[in-house]
Amino acid sequence: MKEATAKITVAEGVFYNPKMKSLRDISVAFLNALELPDSGKSLLDSTSATGIRCIRYAKESGISTLTAIDINEKAAKNTKKNLRLNHVKADVFNIDLEKFAAEHDAKFQIIDLDPFGSPSPYIRDIIKLSEDDTIIMMTATDTAVLCGAHLKACVKQYGSTPLHNHLCKEAGIRILINHFIRKAAEFNFGTEVMLSISDMHYMRIFLRLKKGAENAYASMLQTGFGSYCNSCSAYSYALGIAPVIENKCKNCNSRTKAFGPLYLGRLNQQDLLKRVLLLLSEESPAYKPIKTISEEHESPFFYHIPLLTKFIKTSSVSFTELSESLRKKGFQSTRTLFDPSGIKTDAPLPEIISSIKKLRSHNSA
Ligand SMILES: C[S@@+](CC[C@H](N)C(=O)[O-])C[C@H]1O[C@@H](n2cnc3c(N)ncnc32)[C@H](O)[C@@H]1O
Repeated sequence: MKEATAKITVAEGVFYNPKMKSLRDISVAFLNALELPDSGKSLLDSTSATGIRCIRYAKESGISTLTAIDINEKAAKNTKKNLRLNHVKADVFNIDLEKFAAEHDAKFQIIDLDPFGSPSPYIRDIIKLSEDDTIIMMTATDTAVLCGAHLKACVKQYGSTPLHNHLCKEAGIRILINHFIRKAAEFNFGTEVMLSISDMHYMRIFLRLKKGAENAYASMLQTGFGSYCNSCSAYSYALGIAPVIENKCKNCNSRTKAFGPLYLGRLNQQDLLKRVLLLLSEESPAYKPIKTISEEHESPFFYHIPLLTKFIKTSSVSFTELSESLRKKGFQSTRTLFDPSGIKTDAPLPEIISSIKKLRSHNSA
């Protein structure tokens, strides 16, 4: 079978999902967009399965010092076979990532972590294998947990209260980042968030570690808590380890629900995203989602237009007409990959509501 530049065989009992090509396309484009210096770029594929990532990073991103590990013996053998098939050299180990991190002193400049389910149990291990400026690309597929379908599991795994509504994907990826930041800070690493994507059944975050106690502390200051109103769908957030959280909605006076802790900083570096987009073929399934997030307003969270029209008991308005109305008032607004019915904007809720009412009164006049 072929994926982009790689030829691979998939042995029985070894994981390969062709639908995840989009995520591998993004990872290759991300590494290329970084324009890392050639000297000594070393990459660890810490959950290699067929070895597809190693092969694509070697062939498409020019990474020459590669290590691949997998706990599954068949996967490690399959990785070796596929590397040979593609004439790519890598050190391959059939080992548990935890054991590898404990036994090896090596540090890597790039680490890919793509486990089954939650990456949480492996975060300490990959941090041990990191140094200043190490790039981490990490996937989570336990999205039901991060999106609040299993509240207790999220509290246990991520130490955070999730949301289970239209904001759950954004809250979930911010919970995942917060969790990483906290673990990295224990090892005196700050975390720079470079790219974050939540699509289909996965979340993937792209981070750069910055060594130093001050960097670790500065990253912790980017975390906080949110508050959500079930009645009118208003939200607010506050930075801090123990901030004061609103428990009454400023918009409709109903009781609100607190969620978090979670990361409240920027999810993406827009310049980097634009370079990633230029490197992706328009045929790639990754192109559309990356294009959407490259245009997204960077403020945390968004409003769900049908929930707002339901709250004010009016008929629906389209994203385009609402966005145009807000633009005329001097506010910015964009669509969001997190929800096709969402609007990300810097407009306060009363302005959005007044725009909807005005649009509806015009239409019915
Ligand atoms: C989702 S698959 C990886 C898919 C691959 N990255 C790709 O793009 O096709 C997860 C892999 O992690 C391996 N794995 C699970 N736990 C591990 C551990 N503790 N240490 C190393 N590998 C592990 C599994 O055997 C499996 O091959």
